Amino acid sequence: MTADTAGLHDIPRLVSELSLEEKASLCSGADFWHTQAIEELGIPAVMVTDGPHGLRKQVGSTDHLGLHQSVPATCFPSAAGLGSSWDRDLLRRIGEALGAEARANEVAVLLGPGVNMKRTPLCGRNFEYFSEDPYLAGELAAPLVDGVQSHGVGTSLKHFAANNQESDRMRVSADVDERTLREIYLPAFEKVITRSRPWTVMCAYNKINSTYASQDPWLLTEVLREEWGFDGLVVSDWGAVDNRVAGLVAGLDLEMPSSLGVNDARIAEAVRAGELDEAVLDRAVTRVLTLIARSRAAMADPGSFDADVHHALAHEAATRTAVLLKNEGVLPLDASTLTGDIAIIGEMARTPRYQGAGSSQVNPTRLVSALDALTNHGLDLPFAPGYRLSEAAGADGQDRTDAELRDEAVERATGKTAVLFLGLPALDESEGYDREHLDLPRSHRDLLASVAEVASRTVVVLANGSVVTTVEWEHAADAILELWLGGQATGSAAVELLLGAAAPSGRLAESIPERIEDVPAQLNFPGENQIVRYGEGLYIGYRGLDATRVPVSYPFGHGLTYTTFEYSDLEIDTTAVTDETDEDDILVVVGATVSNTGGRDGVAVPQLYVGRPGSAVARPPRELRGFERVELSPGRSQRMEFVLTRRDLSHWDVATHSWVVEPGALELSVGASSRDLPLSTTVEFEAPMNRAPLTAYSTIGEWMENPEAGPALIQAMGDSGKMLGPNSPDPAIAAFFMSMPVVKAPLLGIGDTFTPDDLEALLKRFGRS
Ligand code: BGC
Repeated sequence: MTADTAGLHDIPRLVSELSLEEKASLCSGADFWHTQAIEELGIPAVMVTDGPHGLRKQVGSTDHLGLHQSVPATCFPSAAGLGSSWDRDLLRRIGEALGAEARANEVAVLLGPGVNMKRTPLCGRNFEYFSEDPYLAGELAAPLVDGVQSHGVGTSLKHFAANNQESDRMRVSADVDERTLREIYLPAFEKVITRSRPWTVMCAYNKINSTYASQDPWLLTEVLREEWGFDGLVVSDWGAVDNRVAGLVAGLDLEMPSSLGVNDARIAEAVRAGELDEAVLDRAVTRVLTLIARSRAAMADPGSFDADVHHALAHEAATRTAVLLKNEGVLPLDASTLTGDIAIIGEMARTPRYQGAGSSQVNPTRLVSALDALTNHGLDLPFAPGYRLSEAAGADGQDRTDAELRDEAVERATGKTAVLFLGLPALDESEGYDREHLDLPRSHRDLLASVAEVASRTVVVLANGSVVTTVEWEHAADAILELWLGGQATGSAAVELLLGAAAPSGRLAESIPERIEDVPAQLNFPGENQIVRYGEGLYIGYRGLDATRVPVSYPFGHGLTYTTFEYSDLEIDTTAVTDETDEDDILVVVGATVSNTGGRDGVAVPQLYVGRPGSAVARPPRELRGFERVELSPGRSQRMEFVLTRRDLSHWDVATHSWVVEPGALELSVGASSRDLPLSTTVEFEAPMNRAPLTAYSTIGEWMENPEAGPALIQAMGDSGKMLGPNSPDPAIAAFFMSMPVVKAPLLGIGDTFTPDDLEALLKRFGRS
């Protein structure tokens, strides 16, 4: 720390020396990317900038839409790809590289990662998010944050919360019930915050249940700080502030970018008018100054990074994020017979689609196409573009088949193994708007159909940031390799995977449905009248698709490689829950063995799913609660152990607003995807019964479930009581009464002489009147 920033050593004193106007000015940006400086008091400005999979530091004109040029930086696969790696160690190493690049560029906070859920595959920004599953997203984002922050620069976990669509994103209210928020939309944030302590959290644009995230005290203070212990700074998404003073009170510390002084004046005015407690302002200012102080060491010693080493990491990442969806004996391609036998088709082999549009857009240090990579391997293969990219200047839209290009491709592919590079045009998916469909462009599908007719074998290589449906055309492909948006080394990774120099090891972090109509969330998407109701509740992704049992093209967790695996020897060890059991106490240990039964090295990704059949609350059939990434040579096996804590086994109880673990059947399954679970068993799990207190409005059935209150009610009801319960001579009558609130019984003359006073007496003994 230099002498002129020494004041940052004693932040309380510094705050006490600032004028009201100075304090208000620190609560918003100085410009697009910098915090406000107050030079005379030794408060420097710091830079915060995107983004999640590469640095986007603009040097000239600024914007948050990715329009203006930024400094060269390594472009790693976007989160859709990184999510498919299921590789915690890789995420940590990418985080370290991002941290080094941010630091070398004197950027104090990198704006990412984004851990919003892929509620529907139509979200235009899904390429920037990890998964449809909160467990997986949290497990992968946490090491990324650790890696970045290990360099003394911060991260900004975004977009907090329930920002799951781009349509109307700046004002839509995501109306989500409490349990769904707690179990689906908040856990990835919670895990990263409690485990990796990101320096900042970025609040979302949207409202949640009618309140803007940027001014929601429940979200920004109660949950984030009081429950999860977050001690960093909350920054607004760019332009997410509605009422600045309300935001400050709720816990929003820093508004970005600058509001051109408008909101600073409002803050000062509110304090003067006695409408805002100055202590609230001081709290936000303290957090801004703490962030600046925290970054001083790194900013004073930026260091450098090796672009070649980071490019090599981007290449490794791209090989690990690709998912082999299908392979009917065609991959890996046989390099020895290659030259005469193969044709490369598709403009994306020459002009790769490797990142998404919007604020995360990186200016890559280099870019390798598949054609470049083949040339680097000494393979000069016949190529035909097959279609035009709509983003190329003056080109027709990609939906229109160019007959000349198609015919040329067909000629090249005839009798050969055709490797087709297909994917989504950049315009089809972007920050700022949602997708309209899940299809590949018509021209790509037509090209595939024509080429597959004449080619001896057909391999499809896909580049897209969110899923495309495959059901219409996959019969024409002998193999499908999904690259996602693989970053700047996507081409070299694709070639290594195709040639077998690397084996695919990615697994789907999002389901590939057959049709968008199969996705339950579609019934309420993208909403209307500025409201989107999350009516599907917990049932997003595989949770919904598995519950409705619709066929899917490829399930969550799926991914092939060049060898095969077998799972065996499932062993379960459980410990009963007592009143003393803590959230983090381990209650279940699941052991299983995975073996490489094929002929090549490969990576298995064993997954543990938990189901609660017979639960008293709605439950998806199964939920991911553990995974490992295991590298195995042929013939080798490895024993794995998954542990489940009390929290892992709990659901959010809306009556008590807390995590509750139920007794009863616990289904534990281990395997290769949510729909390929060769090991599965159900055990009885012991835990105290969480019964709601009995009231007059509890049903007769609920009274019956209570081992003391049930018999007492039967007795109080005399002869009619004998008709109730498990020993009733008439089960239909017994069932009829089960759902009747007990308060109705004396009024309807049910239970002979059972009177309101009798009920009162029972309530005194067993319940709450
Ligand atoms: C995006 C954020 C991004 C910010 C700054 C916003 O439009 O939603 O994710 O970090 O711009 O570029």
